[in-house]
Amino acid sequence: MAADRERQIARRFHDRTAHSPASIRMSGHTLDWDVKPFLFKVYTDLPAVPLPRAFDPVSMDTLLALAGDAPAPAQSLGLDELAALLYHAAGVTRKKEYPGGGEVLFRAAPSTGALYQTEVYVAVGAVDGLEPGLYHFCPGDFALRRLRDGDVRGALAAAAAEAALARRAATVVLTAIYWRNTWKYEARAYRHLFWDSGTMLANLTAVAGALGLQPRLLAGFVDPEVNHLLGLDADREAALELVALGPEGPPGAPPAPLPAVAHPILPLSSAEVDYPALREIHRASMLETEAAVRAWRAGGGGPLSTTTATATGLVGAPAPGRPAAAAATGLEGAPAPGPPASFIALPEPRREAGRGLGETIQHRGSTRQFGRTPLAAAELATVLAAATAGFDADFPAGLVDLYLIVNAAEDIPPGAYGYRRESGSLELVRAGPYRSESAYLCLEQALGGDAAAVIYFLAPLDTILERFGNRGYRLANLEAGLAGGRAYLAAYAQGFGASGLTFYDAQVVEFFSPHAAGKDAIFVTALGRAARRATTR
Ligand SMILES: Cc1cc2nc3c(=O)[nH]c(=O)nc-3n(C[C@H](O)[C@H](O)[C@H](O)COP(=O)(O)O)c2cc1C
Repeated sequence: MAADRERQIARRFHDRTAHSPASIRMSGHTLDWDVKPFLFKVYTDLPAVPLPRAFDPVSMDTLLALAGDAPAPAQSLGLDELAALLYHAAGVTRKKEYPGGGEVLFRAAPSTGALYQTEVYVAVGAVDGLEPGLYHFCPGDFALRRLRDGDVRGALAAAAAEAALARRAATVVLTAIYWRNTWKYEARAYRHLFWDSGTMLANLTAVAGALGLQPRLLAGFVDPEVNHLLGLDADREAALELVALGPEGPPGAPPAPLPAVAHPILPLSSAEVDYPALREIHRASMLETEAAVRAWRAGGGGPLSTTTATATGLVGAPAPGRPAAAAATGLEGAPAPGPPASFIALPEPRREAGRGLGETIQHRGSTRQFGRTPLAAAELATVLAAATAGFDADFPAGLVDLYLIVNAAEDIPPGAYGYRRESGSLELVRAGPYRSESAYLCLEQALGGDAAAVIYFLAPLDTILERFGNRGYRLANLEAGLAGGRAYLAAYAQGFGASGLTFYDAQVVEFFSPHAAGKDAIFVTALGRAARRATTR
């Protein structure tokens, strides 16, 4: 009963932060530009350790990298590779100046409202050219700053209940600073923390894989211990995910109690607004002990389905420990309610795009206006396969299902569909032209109607919460963000564009029902060709 009540925290949070036409019109929230948070975390008393700018260009073909077609494992991790990784995950890739003097420094990964609340830390054990220690990465001056001296991998391994972290060369930790995003989005920002760290992880895991660094993503860890290790003010910033990188070597020192660190930082703004609902759901989804991490992984960590996509030959083999995404939760499981299904077989996804991963990331930018031109069916199939390809993590794939509104794709009649990855096909939910409905569902944004196709990520949230507790809420949003980020990369690699979008929650579910009855809308990504060259920025 207590567990049931506990789980209701995520359900309640999700429902209370739902967008609807009424909630948007009645919100009353305005942006207070005087307190817009600064977009970089600046440690004022720590010397910068500059990163080399002549780093590896990560030239592996983008689609091969997304399919997990990794080179031989790297024998070492050097500063150049670490710099390449940090740049392509979180670096400043473009500067845009606006008439009147405004300037935005756009980053490698997309982020809601360009607010960039995701911060990056690295626990370094064996990186050639870098002292062991705990570092913060600042994209502003492309430098690291050491927060702790000495090897902290043992402490991180204990906090993550994953002994291998003490032997892997380095582990990246992603966090989020709440106020950067709540300033604009209020409590709903909690969802964005996982969408945006997800898009960053799409870049980071693809680049790490392409460099032979065998990334392993961990969503389970003792939150208070990792927050303490990083020296975070846990009411304002929290660790979200860990990614272990590089070869294994001799283990770091065994964990010993770590003193508190609290290096001074520049305030983000002169005033902040607290959103207790956000802190409540984060606290309710924490794991407090190593035993709890182990139990959480053992209980929820198995695959939701034994189905993998490998049988179809459409994609490469899944990474060890994690099947390629094959949604067992609805689309791949029991038949959906309604009339007998009809399917459209998608063409074979393209294996290569002819564009290196580093180049794709450098030129990526959310499409601000889609032309209404169609995509080829193979282009769409390639995005869908890349978005859902497997990779190594401590939670199973397939928590979210991909639904689509196809507005304009060659050989695919306009309509609403469910994507079935294991067979590489689209299941027809409803035929018809739905451009105006799609724009409406995406919070009445034209992007949703002008796109060639729009992916709606839906998940059986209650089932996920039953299995993973409140932390399942993090997983559903994270997986959708990650898949959305991979969709961006697959689209730009093929020469067209993408944009993440927000949405009207209940209306999305209603649109795809009865097929999607009982699920929740989690995230949206639109795909298509930019209206004019200049608009893909
Ligand atoms: C999770 C997510 C949700 C987004 N939602 C919207 C949206 O609703 N409307 C929109 O115009 N752009 C949306 N975007 C695009 C962001 O505004 C864009 O990523 C940000 O301005 C940075 O620009 P860039 O992607 O071109 O680098 C979203 C992006 C992400 C990653």
